[in-house]
Amino acid sequence: MFLEKFFIKDPSVKRHVAKTLTWRLVGTIDTIMLGWIITGNPATGLTIGGFEIITKMILYYFHERIWFRVNLGLPNREKRKKNKEANTKNISAQSFKISRSHRNLQNHHTSLVIWFTGLSGSGKSTLANGVEQKLFSNGIKCYALDGDNVRLGINKDLDFSDTGRKENIRRVAEIAKLMADAGLIVIASFISPFKEDREIAKKIIGEDHFIEVFVDCPLEVCEQRDVKGLYKKARQGTIKEFTGISSPYEAPDHANITIHSNNAGPGESIQQIMSYLENKMQIMEQEGAHI
Ligand code: ADX
Repeated sequence: MFLEKFFIKDPSVKRHVAKTLTWRLVGTIDTIMLGWIITGNPATGLTIGGFEIITKMILYYFHERIWFRVNLGLPNREKRKKNKEANTKNISAQSFKISRSHRNLQNHHTSLVIWFTGLSGSGKSTLANGVEQKLFSNGIKCYALDGDNVRLGINKDLDFSDTGRKENIRRVAEIAKLMADAGLIVIASFISPFKEDREIAKKIIGEDHFIEVFVDCPLEVCEQRDVKGLYKKARQGTIKEFTGISSPYEAPDHANITIHSNNAGPGESIQQIMSYLENKMQIMEQEGAHI
């Protein structure tokens, strides 16, 4: 458990441990051969090699970790850091005459983001679909952003590593914010497994316009449903870093709405979300959020 956490937190450790082992194997074979050739005695070569493999392995690992933190000979690392800072340095936000409030007034409703989070197979897309249909049939301008769809298009360059997921959520939050600015109610359904990333999304979108819906469903149930057959593949090891199996899911502590999709049917859950939403929109309108 400890080792797992250690490796997950800093994946570079895994690489340095692997490099320590392979390099020591090569080095020790070399030492044994040299000891044998110089002394003419294979047992001496083996004795030296036996001691050396332990001490040098420890020394190599720490040597590698220290070098990992040194920038010497790595101009790109520094350059990349500077470029990143320079990218936004000469850019300032432009304001346009038609604001979000103007659009909200024209649409006769406020705009916001409903953010579904939960395991794969928990029912996020089903609920998002249902909510979108209800809103649409009530004449409300809305649009659903879904993990699978977004990852087939704009985010097809991202993987399911922690950093890939982080960037996925950051981009989606930026897109959702633009869509809310355009006057829409955005229904985003993404596993979004990390609390920190959901917090970033909330910050980008703005706390007042962000409704977090936790679709809470036990892993065993999601796995049993296995609608896309992905849990089976994850158990077989053909899908790596699968949420709930080989990648963590951090449940929200204070979601605005929690749906127990294992116990409640979709109709009932959609109604629960709609009631919250109607109430929230009414409060926002009373507070003049759309003016
Ligand atoms: S997130 O973790 O970055 O928020 P996202 O919601 O965009 O994930 O995409 C999840 C969808 O990708 C799942 O519904 C599933 O169909 C598919 N998928 C493919 N590989 C994985 C994986 N390793 N972990 C989770 N979902 C995966």
